[in-house]
Amino acid sequence: MDRYAVIGHPIGHSKSPVIHSGFAQACQQTLQYTAIEAPLDGFASTVDAFRAQGGLGVNVTLPFKLQACEYATHVSPRAARAGAANALKFDGLHCHAENFDGVGLVRDIVHNLQTPIHGQRVLVLGAGGATRGAIEPLLGESPAQLFIANRTATKAQELASLFSGLAPAGTALHGGGYEDIQGQFDVVINATSASLGGEALPISAQVFAPQALAYDMMYGKGLTPFLQLAQTAGVQHMADGVGMLVEQAAEAFAWWRGVRPPTREMIARIAVPLA
Ligand code: ATR
Repeated sequence: MDRYAVIGHPIGHSKSPVIHSGFAQACQQTLQYTAIEAPLDGFASTVDAFRAQGGLGVNVTLPFKLQACEYATHVSPRAARAGAANALKFDGLHCHAENFDGVGLVRDIVHNLQTPIHGQRVLVLGAGGATRGAIEPLLGESPAQLFIANRTATKAQELASLFSGLAPAGTALHGGGYEDIQGQFDVVINATSASLGGEALPISAQVFAPQALAYDMMYGKGLTPFLQLAQTAGVQHMADGVGMLVEQAAEAFAWWRGVRPPTREMIARIAVPLA
């Protein structure tokens, strides 16, 4: 049977086996998808062993997304710019690396949540790996403004200048600290890991425009401090990252199998109510 897996450390919490098994069923594809925990110092050897057993592809999650890029023989331009890969595909001696996280985010916002990014003001909080993967797909939608705000302002400024060549003519791309945020935004995305520790971010409730979408990339945690702040600010339109998770999985599935699975039912199946 064709074999796929998700590799991470830890991996117990991963929803990927449920998602991909569901996709396979929906698309009448015969495959096996498992979760593999690699030792922290053993990513490459774990992937090698999986390939030796006939594995055709893997998803890669924390903390190995950077190493996945280094492992691959062919890295897509998008994954190279993100400096991280979340999917590998094996083809004989070749290994292709892709990053579908940002594409999944944009597809969830635009398609599932019916919120345009084109011509809108977008604020991304955080300047770590999650933001890095999101910038190129966000710029691809031609927002009027994309501001990256981070606790360490220099990291946000560096990301903005790194991606400046990809900003469409009508898009203002800038980075800075939280204190540099000016005006209101139509889409506000939390890409920091602050929600993990239940920590609030030092942003004002004023950043949310009327009708804004508040999006936390974290999923399954209910109302995170970021979403609570949005709620307090009167934001009606809130989402966590469950749709992003399912959409990036669908992109990987299509890349491996040549058929794009439906996502709506799967999102509903694994979503945790926000309130
Ligand atoms: P990931 O790959 O998940 O993005 P990361 O690369 O470690 O993880 O980045 C974590 C991000 O969350 C960073 O932007 C970090 O801010 P700094 O660059 O200033 O460290 C941000 N972050 C984490 N905890 C935070 C907190 N309590 N308040 C504000 N920002 C936080």
